[in-house]
Amino acid sequence: MPTTYQFDALIIGGGAAGLSLALRIADKCNVAIITKGPGKDGSTYYAQGGVSAVLSNKDSFESHIEDTLNVGGGLSDIDAIKFTIENGPANIRWMQELGVPFSRETFQSGKRELHLTREGGHTHRRVVHAADATGKAMSDTLENHARQHENITFFEHHIAVDLITTEKQEIKDTENTCIGAYVLNNRNKRVETFQARFVILATGGASKVYLYTSNPDGSTGDGIAMAWRAGCSISNMEFNQFHPTCLYHPEAKSFLITEAVRGEGGRLLLPDGKQFMHKFDSRGELAPRDIVARAIDHEMKRLGIPCLYLDISHRSTAFIASHFPTIHERCLTFGIDITKEPMPVVPAAHYTCGGINTDLNGRTEINNLYAIGETAHTGLHGSNRMASNSLLECLVFAQSAARHITALTTEPHKYLNISSWDASRVTDSDEDVVISHNWDELRRFMWDYVGIVRTDKRLERAMHRASLLQQEIEDYYSNFRISSDLIELRNLTLVAELIIRSAMTRKESRGLHYSLDYPVADETSIARNTVLRPQQKSNKEKIKIIK
Ligand code: FAD
Ligand code: SIN
Repeated sequence: MPTTYQFDALIIGGGAAGLSLALRIADKCNVAIITKGPGKDGSTYYAQGGVSAVLSNKDSFESHIEDTLNVGGGLSDIDAIKFTIENGPANIRWMQELGVPFSRETFQSGKRELHLTREGGHTHRRVVHAADATGKAMSDTLENHARQHENITFFEHHIAVDLITTEKQEIKDTENTCIGAYVLNNRNKRVETFQARFVILATGGASKVYLYTSNPDGSTGDGIAMAWRAGCSISNMEFNQFHPTCLYHPEAKSFLITEAVRGEGGRLLLPDGKQFMHKFDSRGELAPRDIVARAIDHEMKRLGIPCLYLDISHRSTAFIASHFPTIHERCLTFGIDITKEPMPVVPAAHYTCGGINTDLNGRTEINNLYAIGETAHTGLHGSNRMASNSLLECLVFAQSAARHITALTTEPHKYLNISSWDASRVTDSDEDVVISHNWDELRRFMWDYVGIVRTDKRLERAMHRASLLQQEIEDYYSNFRISSDLIELRNLTLVAELIIRSAMTRKESRGLHYSLDYPVADETSIARNTVLRPQQKSNKEKIKIIK
């Protein structure tokens, strides 16, 4: 018999967004959290720098709003910005009440207060952090609470394959409504049916579509792909953020060097030891990320070298060891002592600014389907995300979605009949090499053709390859039993197509999208979001760009 579960809320993803939503609704609902790996497998766990919020009396909401607007390059939604920033301090307090051990400092008065660090684009110190392992501190705390809650059940090693909607089930007389998901149980390799009154995508970003990324392996854009296939519109996929500084070392797998290193005085250097950032922006090392990543890329290409350098060794050993213990220790394992010498760094894909369109309650265009965290496009980031605004967005939108969901739980609900997953027409694959080869090819051409610097020609080449890959993978998907690698590859290829289509649509350079063919922002018309709608998939002319 196929396995079917019923829950009030199915949360797909156990990062900052998914876990905080679960905790906020669990007193009113029974909740399933599914994760691809053994929990703590998303980007949240690896977050370093911190969470931005207005916590000092020298700072103000207006200033945080203005900085976010400036970094967003004319595309951010002012309502989303205000909403996120004004709800920031309460969410930090909530984190503290749960017990997140944020770093503190002793003030002259003798009082111990939260230590606030600085990052690019912020004109004030406003980033609360737990040394350089903020994500670990948040994940550990949230997960400990969630595991103790009797209404929350974890399904680890489970990967959602697709959303179940009334439209796909051909259930008539209702507006398209999400009623669950098909999920591959990776332990017994069976596809199970999860029925739920509310389904929440908290699946993180898609930076794994690039060859070099700071993200963990699961950042394959599954939520964006599932939402698209279910009928949701997706915005601004051309704006993939590249973090300027990941450690350059063959075994470091793009280990991140937090922007807080630059916030605390770290200098970017050429191989001859000279600083160069002032040539590109008067804010120097603390210019927004798009500018710093492009400057590093430019200098590396100009000099034909594989990396540049970041130096914090002028600060005391005690300071470095207390502020950046994780980075200090990790670099030592590679033979680099950051208290004495600079670290070799390169940019790597880091954050997906685009995503599933939602309102301020995290609601998507499909009834009872929500999207929160990095998978969502709320309008906060515009064409470039400001550092440490992502974890903030996860917390704030988890809170508002929770408010919306709990208000609806008092209404009566009836679970509808859903057909089980049909695996009767597929066989076991004897050609898994196709999957690994295609994974590699996809990530390589995305890096080469759709990276920090783009051209029309490169995008056309990439689109051609993405279409061929999609055909091959869809064929494979229809004929062979699914595996997690195949599910992720299918999703990544779709996400690649959405990124390339969005990039082809934007005939200007703005924020994270930089084209040599259109090197400046088009200030002659109103800046617009790139909105892709599923039904217009095969008709390029109809891709709508709306504000
Ligand atoms: P994630 O934390 O990525 O979690 C995604 C979850 O979804 C995982 O549990 C995964 O298993 C699950 N999932 C995905 N697909 C499926 C599926 N098909 N089926 C089942 N489960 C699925 N931002 C900041 O604001 N401050 C920082 O200091 C900061 N530092 C960062 C450092 C690094 C190295 C990285 C990679 C990112 C950093 N970011 C930072 C960005 C930030 O961490 C992420 O944007 C944020 O954590 C995303 O949280 P999330 O809950 O949306 O998703
Ligand atoms: C970092 O610590 O540099 C990452 C911060 C972020 O991505 O917001």
